[in-house]
Parts: sequence; structure tokens; C-alpha cells
Amino acid sequence: MSEKKDITILAIESSCDETAAAVVRNGREVLSNIISSQIDLHKLYGGVVPEIASRKHIEKINQVIEGALVESGCTLDEIDAVAVTYGPGLVGALLVGVAEAKAIAYAKNLPLIGVHHIEGHISANYIENKELEPPFLCLVVSGGHTHLVCVEDYGSYKILGKTKDDAAGEAFDKVARAIGLGYPGGPKIDKLAKEGNPDAIEFPRAHVGDSVYDFSFSGVKSAVLNYINGCRMKQIEYNRADVAASFQKAVTDVLVDHAMIGVENYGLKKLAIAGGVASNSALRAAMSQACQERGIEFYHPSPILCTDNAAMIGAAGYYDYIHGIRSGWDLNAVPNLKLGER
Ligand code: KG4
Ligand code: ZN
Repeated sequence: MSEKKDITILAIESSCDETAAAVVRNGREVLSNIISSQIDLHKLYGGVVPEIASRKHIEKINQVIEGALVESGCTLDEIDAVAVTYGPGLVGALLVGVAEAKAIAYAKNLPLIGVHHIEGHISANYIENKELEPPFLCLVVSGGHTHLVCVEDYGSYKILGKTKDDAAGEAFDKVARAIGLGYPGGPKIDKLAKEGNPDAIEFPRAHVGDSVYDFSFSGVKSAVLNYINGCRMKQIEYNRADVAASFQKAVTDVLVDHAMIGVENYGLKKLAIAGGVASNSALRAAMSQACQERGIEFYHPSPILCTDNAAMIGAAGYYDYIHGIRSGWDLNAVPNLKLGER
């Protein structure tokens, strides 16, 4: 009987402000995962500046790919396919990764696989949880996206709900800026909230019309801004840690509530979280407890696999590869690519 051949994928991610490359074997074994972050550069402007991001990607991408190959101990001759994020994201940033992936695949005559960024975030859960298989519910919470997704099978997604306005991470970043914590705000709010009282201030938990799954975070963000302005006008000093903790609780309460309605309505026994905000300690603790109370298995990636990275693109790309999905040489960046579309 012939042994199953290992599939080794070179994966590239450049959709926002991280230039990343990884070598991933059989979708779940990370041989290398190199991330060059531009955070220090964008910090100066309080957020990601698209043109600076593109320029930095073009400067770094070859170095990052070489680093990923060296660390994995593989040469390009041992790579079976090249996977790359082609959307959603910043168009100029995505184009750098897509052009690079095409050039490598073309030169080495390798299959090219365009990967959806959110599918990558979801697939990050496969890397450290070798036993995790669909179906499961996944809450994707990042700087640009807030999606509640039923992962019916590898590559097959049903979107139950999404945000109607700000993404969860965006709300964290905006509130952080308002209380003077700087960019990126999520990790800073997470840290400061540990010193605050989450029940000090009652911020609104927004529910959207008739949808039990959709999210809205602009209301809670405005409530925080109004609270701060109110204190300033009355010349009262507000407690930043209390604001951070109370805001964080308002957001995580809604995320946990919606996820629990999802697992119950769909009869799912497994719940995963993904995306930058999935590394939030309060969200992890609250979600873990809610799952435990209901006998649901809870999965989450390590923080380094929550924020943008290429290992997650290699994991998603592997399942596309074994299902025969290939991209043509006309693969282009699709800034507003929808999950489940190709
Ligand atoms: O997934 P990601 O790296 O990029 C996107 O695809 O958007 O997510 C970045 C977002 C930022 O908004 C950042 O503030 C947030 O994730 N974030 C956090 C934490 N770590 C990162 N938000 C809350 N708590 C954290 N610990
Ligand atoms: Zn992301």
C-alpha cells in the first residue's frame, strides 16, 4: 500500500499591516511562521495607512519568505503549492502578496491557491487542535470583521450574522484612542481592564432589529465617547481602567450571547473563536465558562495565530488543495471578497 504523500504549502499573507510567510505541512503542522509587523510605523498615525502598508510589504516580502523557507528547512523544490490571501483587505497590500505568490508558483510550476482571509482566521484553529473537525460554530472577531459562522465542512460556511457597523476590533481601537491608549487598542484595553471594575459603568449591549446573530458596536463606542465627554465637561476625572473594563464587558457579553444562541439553535457541540480579538483574555474566559456550562467544547488559537499570520493561510490552503481548488494565473486581489465566494 502506498503511503499518503505529505503536502507542504508555502503560504503568504499581506492583507493589512503584517507581511507574513509560513511553511505548513498537511494543513496542521507549522514548519515556520514568520511575521514582519508594521505596527510601530502605523502607530504614529493612530491607524493603518494603506499606502505605507503596501510600500512596506514590497520592501519586506522577499526577506520574510526567505526566512520562512530557511526556518522550515525546506527549499522551494520541496514545496507542493503556494497559497496566498487574495481578499478581503487593503487592495494595494493584497496585490503585493498575490503578485509574489504568482511569480513563485509560475517560476516553479506549482499550483496557486487564492485563500480568503477570514477562512484563514477560522482555519488557525486546526493548527493547535489536531482533533478539531467541522461542523462547528466559529466567532471571527478581528479589526475588520465580526462574523458568526457555521463551519459546515472544510471550505463550506454559512454566515449566521455579522456586524452592521464597526467590527469588534475597530471598536476596541477607537475606544482605546479616546481614552488615550494609542494604537492598536485591543491589547492595551485588555491589559488596563484587568485593573478596572467591569460593572462600574453600564454601557449598552446593542441587539440588531430582528436578528439574533447580527452585531452592532457603534452604539457602545458612542456611549463610551459620550461618557468621557460628559466627565470632561463636568470636570470630573474618570477612571480609565473602569471605562476599559466596562466597555470590554459590554462587547464580550454580546459576543458570548450570540455565540451561545448559535450553538444552541444549530445543535453544535463545538465552538471556536478566531481573529485578533480572539486573544482578548476577558472574551476567552467568558466564552470558556459559557461553553463549559453547556457541555460545549471550546477552541481558540494561541495569540500569535489569532492576529494576522500566514500559517493560518497555509492551513486553509491545504484543505482547498486536497479538494482540488486551484487559482488561475489571472488571480487578482479582491478587497471586499465575501466568505464562501471564489
Ligand atoms: O485579525 P487581526 O490581526 O487583523 C484583522 O484582520 O483585522 O486583528 C486586529 C485587531 C485589532 O483591532 C486589535 O486591536 C485587536 O485585533 N486585538 C485585540 C486584542 N489583540 C488584538 N482586541 C482585544 N483584545 C486583545 N487582546
Ligand atoms: Zn485578520
